[in-house]
Amino acid sequence: MPDATGEATDWRDGPGRRQTGAMSGPQLTSALDATRLTLHVLAATVWVGGQLTVAGLLPTLRGLGAAATRSVAAAFGRLQWPAYVVLLATGIWNVTAVHLGQASGAWLTVLYVKVGVVLVAGVSAYLHQRATSTLGLAVGGAVTALASVAALALGVLLTG
Ligand code: HEM
Repeated sequence: MPDATGEATDWRDGPGRRQTGAMSGPQLTSALDATRLTLHVLAATVWVGGQLTVAGLLPTLRGLGAAATRSVAAAFGRLQWPAYVVLLATGIWNVTAVHLGQASGAWLTVLYVKVGVVLVAGVSAYLHQRATSTLGLAVGGAVTALASVAALALGVLLTG
């Protein structure tokens, strides 16, 4: 359907559509959307990037002794959980900000799968923190990292 400027916008009104017409170039997003997505992505950098960074530092930390590894893991936990809460809160904000009624079945399916992997990531991170065996720590850490990277990729898919 043409909008006030005469441009076709009907096929781009749903979530996952960033541009406003086949003939126009990329558009700046609004200040409110920029704030929402910046907070969401910033929290994702801490949750996902922090996990990958700590995993990469593990060999060095182990060389400093078990106490150093435990201290750094505990310190990361204090950063990680606030980031997870911000991801959940801004994720809900994201869902309320898009035109959900115009979402395609595929978009909604990706959203449901994403919410599922976010919950898997949260539960496995919790179990990982409480694991005492090496196997429990390794499986918990791997599942958390895989689910978190999957959530990130699915988020990018949702943005379009
Ligand atoms: C581990 C947790 C999460 C991670 C790592 C994550 C990551 C991301 C990323 C990287 C984007 C793309 C942002 C962009 O390209 O501008 C995104 C978008 C999105 N996320 Fe998440 N997210 C998480 C949790 C959630 C949750 C819990 C929800 C829903 C309750 C959610 C709903 C959305 C939606 C709807 C978008 C698209 C927003 C838009 O296009 O305006 N996210 N996410």
